[in-house]
This record gives sequence, structure tokens and C-alpha cells, in this order.
Amino acid sequence: MNKIKLFDPCISEQEEKQLIRALRSGHWASGGGSNLVNLFEKKFAKYIGAKTCVAVNNGTSALHLALSEADVTGNEVILPSLTFVSTAHSVLYNNGKIKFADIDPTTLCMDIDSAKKLVTKRTRVILPVHFGGMPADLRSLGNLAAETDSLLIDDAAHAAGATFQGKKIGSIGAMSCFSFHPVKNLAMPTGGLVALNQKNFKQARKKLLSLRWCGITDRKEADYDVKELGWNFYMNEFSAAIGLVQLATLDKLNKKRLNIAKRFHKDFDVERKMPLNTECSYHFYWILSKNRKQFRKKMADLGIETGIHYRPVHTMTMYKTGTNLPVTEEISKQIVTLPTHPNLTEENLDKIIEATNEFCKS
Ligand SMILES: Cc1ncc(COP(=O)(O)O)c(C=O)c1O
Repeated sequence: MNKIKLFDPCISEQEEKQLIRALRSGHWASGGGSNLVNLFEKKFAKYIGAKTCVAVNNGTSALHLALSEADVTGNEVILPSLTFVSTAHSVLYNNGKIKFADIDPTTLCMDIDSAKKLVTKRTRVILPVHFGGMPADLRSLGNLAAETDSLLIDDAAHAAGATFQGKKIGSIGAMSCFSFHPVKNLAMPTGGLVALNQKNFKQARKKLLSLRWCGITDRKEADYDVKELGWNFYMNEFSAAIGLVQLATLDKLNKKRLNIAKRFHKDFDVERKMPLNTECSYHFYWILSKNRKQFRKKMADLGIETGIHYRPVHTMTMYKTGTNLPVTEEISKQIVTLPTHPNLTEENLDKIIEATNEFCKS
């Protein structure tokens, strides 16, 4: 039985060709930025319509780096708990304080009213997550950021190619953080990126480029200075080589994901499922199941891999504070994620739909 994977990168001969070219170039990585990495930054910035971009080694580093530019130390960041732990870790890496907001029960993105209630004088960043590629309400959240003199920094790990009101995710927030982990819509062995749109984007880029490579500045030949603590976060050439090919096919592959989501939305006979939104990049598709354990077992027995995204961060041992997030808690007990990757065949889709309806019929 051929297993249906939850995530599966889509590759062609082009990735292989470009990888071999990068390998033979003898130039594999450089902290100061190198050929393919610089090219990827430029092409991705153009694709999303961002002022500029800084490529890094993963999405966690992108969040860590972006928040280092946002006066977070001793201050507060509002974010959802239904996310990968990196979103929350990035606040702690920068010595900030986490304020978990609840989610909207339809989109599963951060709920604006819940976020509003958490605002204090110490709020510095509003940090929504585009859950599964579903665009968070960046208009309302952007207004909230403006009213509170904070920065809108979005976690766009699931949202490469997604749009909000016709504009690409990555062109709206002050900074947007992407992940190019192999499971993501734009896949690399490992990679991430900060898109910058704030007023002082040139200055911010310069600073982030330095922090991306151990805080190194003022390089002249072999001489350089270090004025503040940075990290080893730069992207390598192999990731960029693959990323450039993936970027060229991203829209085509996202369209396939959208068509899969359309089919699921139409044919799943379940009470609660991911809404249909043509602006979503459908990193996965979710449904709610009251008998999640049995449903996932049945799917696994049929060779269909499913996931749980996510156990909420505020329930993890290190983040437990007694915060009460009723919608997040209810949904996280029932959510099951299903594949939307473009390697799925029509037969795979039929099988997923039939098995889901048989078990979860409303
Ligand atoms: C919502 C979200 N944020 C951040 C990250 C971190 O990205 P990376 O794994 O590239 O560090 C991920 C990756 O899974 C994610 O799903």
C-alpha cells in the first residue's frame, strides 16, 4: 500500500540541476551573503512585493531576528497559542513577555477582540499567525498595532504565496517571517526569511544582516568589527538553489493546493472544516473530529497520514500560566490536519474524502 503523506515536497529535475551547480561552484555558504542567497532575497522580495528581505537559516531564526528589531525586552507581544512553539520562543529569545490571545473559531487565526483585551502600555508587537496559510485579518490587526504604537510582525511560515485583500503576505506587516522547512509550500532543506516593510527598512536590513552573522559589521578585507551580539543565522547556497526553483513554481503549486481544498470543502460531509478562501495558501486542510484518536487510527490503517496542528503553546509545561483560551482549547482537542500537497493524485483525494466521510459524517 502506497502511503499518503501529510507533507511531501514537490520537486523536478530543476532542483537536482541547480543543486549540482551549487555543489560544483565550490562556494557553499557565506555569512556576508553569497550569490544564490542574495538572488533569492531579491527575487522573493519582488514576488511578495516587500521593500526588502533578509534570508536566514530557518523560520525560527526569522522570528528571533525580526523581534530583535522591535524593542521587545521587558515588553509584551500578543500572539495566538495555536501555533508552532517557535512563535512563542521568539519572544523569550528576546526577553519579552508573552500575551496569548484566543483564536477566531472560523479561520483559527488570532481573534482581534481577544487581542484588543490584552493591550497594555507595554505592548510592542502584534504577532498573528496565518494558520494553515489562511490570511489573518491584517487590516484590523494593523490598525490595532498603529493605535498601540506597536509593530505588526506576522508569522507567515504557512503563508508563502498567500494574499490578504489582494496583497501578498509579506508586503503588509512591518516585518513578516517565513519558513522554508521541507514541509512548507516553498521547500528548502532548511531556510527562512524576514520581509521588511517598515519606514526604516534600509537601516533595519543593515542591522539584521549584521545580526544574522554574529554581529559582524564594517568589513574591509579580513578586518571587521562587532558592536553587538548576533547569531549564526545565515542561509546556505544549497537552500537558496532549491528555493529559487521552488519560487518559480510556487504559484502553480499553490493553485493545485487551492483546487484540492476546493474539493475537500465541497465533498467533506463534516460539521466543521477549514473555510474556503481563494487567498489562502492551504499549507494543510483541517477538519474537527470529536473522535480524533479513532479517526486518526482509521486513517493510519488506510495508509493516510494525518496531523495535529497544534497542541496549544500555553498548555506546554514551560508556558503553562493558567491562561484560559476557550476557543483554542476546544478546537485543539478536535483538530485533525489533512494533506494538500500537489503530489496527491485524484485517487488519493477520493480515498481521503471517502474515509473521512465514512468516519466523521455529520
Ligand atoms: C507557524 C510556524 N512558525 C514558525 C515555524 C518555524 O519554522 P522553522 O521550522 O523553519 O524554524 C514553523 C515551522 O514549523 C511554523 O509552522
